[in-house]
Amino acid sequence: MGLLIRGGEIVTADTRYVADVYAEGEVITRIGVDLDVPPGTETIDAAGKYVFPGFIDPHVHIHLPFMGTFAKDTHATASQAALIGGTTSYIEMVCPAGHEDALQGYELWKSKAAGRSACDYAFHMGVTRFDAQTQAQLREIVADGTTSFKVFLAYKGAFGVGDEELYGALTLARELGVIVTAHCENAELVAQLQGRLLAEGKTGPEWHEPSRPEAVEADGTHRFATFLEMTGARGYVVHLSNEAALKAALSAKARGVPLGVEVVVPHLLLDKTYAQRPDFEGARYVMSPPLRDARNQKVLWNALQAGMIDTVGTDHCPFDLAQKDMGRGAFTAIPNGIPCIQDRVNLLYTYGVGAGRLDLHRFVDALSTRAARLFGLFPRKGTVAVGSDADLVIYDPAYAGTVSVATTTVNNDYSGFEGWAIHGRPSVVTVRGQVAVRDGIFVGDPARGQLLRRMPEGAAARGLVPV
Ligand code: URP
Ligand code: ZN
Ligand code: ZN
Ligand code: ZN
Repeated sequence: MGLLIRGGEIVTADTRYVADVYAEGEVITRIGVDLDVPPGTETIDAAGKYVFPGFIDPHVHIHLPFMGTFAKDTHATASQAALIGGTTSYIEMVCPAGHEDALQGYELWKSKAAGRSACDYAFHMGVTRFDAQTQAQLREIVADGTTSFKVFLAYKGAFGVGDEELYGALTLARELGVIVTAHCENAELVAQLQGRLLAEGKTGPEWHEPSRPEAVEADGTHRFATFLEMTGARGYVVHLSNEAALKAALSAKARGVPLGVEVVVPHLLLDKTYAQRPDFEGARYVMSPPLRDARNQKVLWNALQAGMIDTVGTDHCPFDLAQKDMGRGAFTAIPNGIPCIQDRVNLLYTYGVGAGRLDLHRFVDALSTRAARLFGLFPRKGTVAVGSDADLVIYDPAYAGTVSVATTTVNNDYSGFEGWAIHGRPSVVTVRGQVAVRDGIFVGDPARGQLLRRMPEGAAARGLVPV
């Protein structure tokens, strides 16, 4: 049975027009004015609303053993929250510890998602060690359709890799046509600064930012770009937070280094004063790279609007207040992460489009299309076009409400954006032609989500066919 979205204003990264969208099965089969459809077709009136392509979150953590505990979500809680907020696909970081087996890690992460996600999902494969066995396993993982890696230049002794491993991972990525996403902070400098601050008795959450200053992230960004330049691999800087790091990334782009840049919602909207809040409330706002001096935000917004920053993700990573309390004695033991998987689209619409910082096309591009292009999902995802998956967000720009932990399925006991006003939200969200959300409530199939298997760059030239 088909699904008709009647009379909405379709907005993609480069077009905007009023039309009907008809999906037969899982894909869009017709777009046009006053479409004739079979009697009994489920019809959604989208007059006065936008019809956006399903949004893609390129950076989430769901299953995550980290800092002696686990992030709180399951794919059930995270995917339903994502959908309520208009995100119809996300890419999760597979993060085995350095001493763990890569392939076993990959299978574990896959098993956590299989049959439990309401939205479609893919993985960035964390390369937390690089040796001959890992190399062979990574080839298998890429052949399974996971065609992006993740490396951590930070988190010494946990996920972090050294220069030799980084060089090896990038060389393999280049060979396989895989893009490598990277957390760029100089791990040694972070470790040294943490030690110095703690020795000085500076233990509260407000010292997290000074332990990983802007220059430390700029150094990591520059180093990653240099390694890309030397290996010829394609890269993507995740959660870039400040002007100095942006300069390093843009200077690499200007040299011709193929480098995508991501910002995440917390760095656009929250600043370091949140982590300075008294009575340990600041711990809720501890993430890495840290929330920065507010002067960086204007720079990030401008670069985002100009397309110099490619994407906006969340880095969704929920730890509850009891978990945050593990760091009462030392900021270095506060689990890092801020949850916002449900709020990305509405916050960016309200404080980006609504505030005049972001035009509507760049909004769609940054939150959907560009991630689809960078990570091998386009045009199946990331646009509204005949042949694309019918992942659609019928968006009501007249809605007014507030963000609250009370109205999310995220498994946490606080929101970093509690009480923030939002103007606009999805009225209806579809996943491959099936309604998943109506007016803030998940009404879909909790197991509809599929693993999105992707092709590496240059796959056709190498005679590869989809898995
Ligand atoms: O603080 C953060 N960002 N937590 C998640 C892990 C990471 O570095 O992305
Ligand atoms: Zn990170
Ligand atoms: Zn992350
Ligand atoms: Zn208001």
